[in-house]
Amino acid sequence: MQEKDVQNDIKHVLFTKEEIDAKIKELAEQVDRDYAGKDVLLVGVLKGAIMVMADLSRALTAHYTMDWMAVSSYGSGTKSSGVVRILKDLDTDLTGRDVLIVEDIVDSGLTLQWLQQNLQHRGANSVEICALLRKPKSVKTDVQCKYVGWDIEPEFVVGYGLDFAERYRNLDCIATLAPHVYS
Ligand code: XMP
Ligand code: MG
Repeated sequence: MQEKDVQNDIKHVLFTKEEIDAKIKELAEQVDRDYAGKDVLLVGVLKGAIMVMADLSRALTAHYTMDWMAVSSYGSGTKSSGVVRILKDLDTDLTGRDVLIVEDIVDSGLTLQWLQQNLQHRGANSVEICALLRKPKSVKTDVQCKYVGWDIEPEFVVGYGLDFAERYRNLDCIATLAPHVYS
């Protein structure tokens, strides 16, 4: 796709690359401080969390290991149902581990609530969540995210790992899309 076409598809930039970089640094400082001396496993949720994981993990100063999961949430259309299927599981044994789930966005929170409980049941010492974005008006669970970059309005956003029909993940900003993209 041409760069010009992408610019035409964007309605509004919520967060620029510079703002995201600064926010990731801020989150990394909190995580480093809270987990000092611990052997933390970062668990990225594919595919949306790829950019957050790549940048957060490099902004952290202590030693962290990384693993990935892919899950699919059954639901009607774009709505999450909370019934989750594991498409790719972890390679790591979680017994006694301090786990930090790294996510792009919390919408209903149903997927993350399921994931947090699932990982906890594997014998982890702790399972916390770091999400770059959260839509408080859409959250339907009491899932606790220890680290949140920004709370946003419940509108669909793309970029920095977030996609619409697998496109726009490689935008370096986070943005809403123009109506013509959806038609
Ligand atoms: P729930 O509702 O379980 O789902 O919290 C979270 C997942 O839904 C996807 N999601 C989005 N993806 N732009 C996206 O590209 C959005 O605005 C958006 N809102 C939710 C995403 O996969 C997230 O992990
Ligand atoms: Mg996701």
